[in-house]
Amino acid sequence: MFDNPYGTGQTTLTAVLALTNVLAAGREFCVVGYGWVGKGLARAAAGLGGRITVVEVDPVRALTAHMDGHRVAALADALPHAEIVLTATGSIEAVPAAALGLLQDGAVLANAGHHDREIDVPALAAAAEDLIEARPGVRTYVVGGRRLHVLVDGALVNIAGLDGNPIEIMDLSFSVQALAAHHLASGRAAPGLQRFPDELDDLIARTKLETLGVTLDSPTEAQRLFSESWAS
Ligand SMILES: NC(=O)c1ccc[n+]([C@@H]2O[C@H](COP(=O)([O-])OP(=O)(O)OC[C@H]3O[C@@H](n4cnc5c(N)ncnc54)[C@H](O)[C@@H]3O)[C@@H](O)[C@H]2O)c1
Repeated sequence: MFDNPYGTGQTTLTAVLALTNVLAAGREFCVVGYGWVGKGLARAAAGLGGRITVVEVDPVRALTAHMDGHRVAALADALPHAEIVLTATGSIEAVPAAALGLLQDGAVLANAGHHDREIDVPALAAAAEDLIEARPGVRTYVVGGRRLHVLVDGALVNIAGLDGNPIEIMDLSFSVQALAAHHLASGRAAPGLQRFPDELDDLIARTKLETLGVTLDSPTEAQRLFSESWAS
């Protein structure tokens, strides 16, 4: 809820711009996957003046992207217009070999999602007639006369290409991991897959807010009784 949209959203855009030195304003971005990460990527790119097209397979998330003000399209419709393609599906082949022929000359491809298998870089390498080491972290594959720029070989661009997420956001992720380990070690978790307890999420958010100097109101007794009267 924080690391993925806010941390990865910011640092992916920072990495892409640092590696390529292109201008985001007015540029056509294609964000593949509109989950926690994709939403953050789209927001960060739009905040810099980019125009966003979202590719999603989940109808609720695709509709959310539409309501958030982004264009939504199928991959085959989105890629021919894309100048920067950002993948964040958590799956494989978000930009598969079959789609690489749709990309325009000069397109930049970067991945913020799973490992290095979202963009089919091996297929691109196999089809390329030339390979140019354009800049550190930028390999340009020349395919049918088109130059396609791949950042850090399709690995996680914010981590392999820059410094990863700032500590102000990783402290939340590490808190979840540390408290989850503590919860398990305390023997309070039943065997099997468990949700992270809501009260621990609350504790982390409250602690973070305290470090930011923010104090919250509490519901009044009447409000508490009212909300409890609806409990099933
Ligand atoms: N780079 C980083 O620092 C960083 C940080 C956090 C998470 N991640 C990674 O980012 C990935 C996404 O994380 P998330 O929290 O957004 O996951 P998520 O499950 O919330 O979102 C993934 C979205 O991609 C969509 N999707 C799946 N296959 C697709 C396809 N072929 N085409 C279009 N859309 C498709 C899904 O419907 C879903 O909405 C994960 O692999 C996660 O590990 C990276």
